[in-house]
Amino acid sequence: MKENLKNKAKLTEDFLISELQHCSESETLNEIMEYAVLNGGKRLRPVLLLSSYELFEPDFKKALPYAAALEMIHSYSLVHDDLPAMDNDDLRRGKPTCHKQFSEFGAILAGDALLNLSFETMLKYADTFPLERSLAAMSYIAKAAGAKGMCAGQMSDMEQSVSDFQSLCKMYRGKTGALLKASVAAGGILGGATAATIAYLEQFADKIGLIFQIKDDVLDVTADEITLGKPVLSDEKNEKITFVSQYGIEECNKLIETYKNEALAILEELEQNLNISGSVLFLKQLTVYMAERNH
Ligand code: IPE
Ligand code: IPE
Ligand code: MG
Ligand code: MG
Ligand code: MG
Repeated sequence: MKENLKNKAKLTEDFLISELQHCSESETLNEIMEYAVLNGGKRLRPVLLLSSYELFEPDFKKALPYAAALEMIHSYSLVHDDLPAMDNDDLRRGKPTCHKQFSEFGAILAGDALLNLSFETMLKYADTFPLERSLAAMSYIAKAAGAKGMCAGQMSDMEQSVSDFQSLCKMYRGKTGALLKASVAAGGILGGATAATIAYLEQFADKIGLIFQIKDDVLDVTADEITLGKPVLSDEKNEKITFVSQYGIEECNKLIETYKNEALAILEELEQNLNISGSVLFLKQLTVYMAERNH
């Protein structure tokens, strides 16, 4: 499992390196963009996209431009999330955050440019697939990253206006779940999955979205800064309303366990009921990893 994860992450990184090289007329902007992306992220969104695609087509390398694009969007979201106007954090992926290392305007512009570069990259390679698939994948990703998805979730997180279970789930489905769901769904779309299969993939991804952010909240309290690569107790510092602040760590761990089992059951059903050529084993292993990770 670890080898598969490492291999897909490494291939994504190589692709990112080549797309980021000389991507801007401004050397400084280019430097900040590279700093924001090529810095040891776990690359889970790309790995999810590639692994979901692999359920339908063995040659997952074909989907690398879309995998890399997701990591660009994710990395931009982290750069903006860390800004003084948002979570005001100084450490990311074990290094000073972009606005600390460079400047606040540099971090804002690098984030903007990364979001655009992600779509430039997907468009550049759009004809690797039947166009209706590329367009559907891009459209899915655009919606997930935007006003209907991640940005809306981040807005709700910043406004801190919700505290009941359902509203918290909605916020998490937006700020974190939307991009994870897009990773899994876009892999299926590019691989030519049927609508019924995509629906299964979406149900599965919905669970891992919740697992992922609840685990992130737990780690914010239980992990150490070196292992995590970002500040601990950031949520407490910002007086954030999170699953941990509302329900405590023990309850959060129970929820993670419940969603993990539900996600695994959906994958099992997917394999039994639908005609897929690949195996769901690696997606199962990734689910367990996301629930049990320590950083
Ligand atoms: C952190 O994401 C931000 C959230 C959406 C919870 P990751 O834990 O995937 O961060 P990296 O990419 O590995 O740094
Ligand atoms: C961030 O959630 C979600 C994003 C869209 C970036 P957090 O604010 O909890 O992420 P970390 O803990 O800073 O990585
Ligand atoms: Mg945040
Ligand atoms: Mg944050
Ligand atoms: Mg967090």
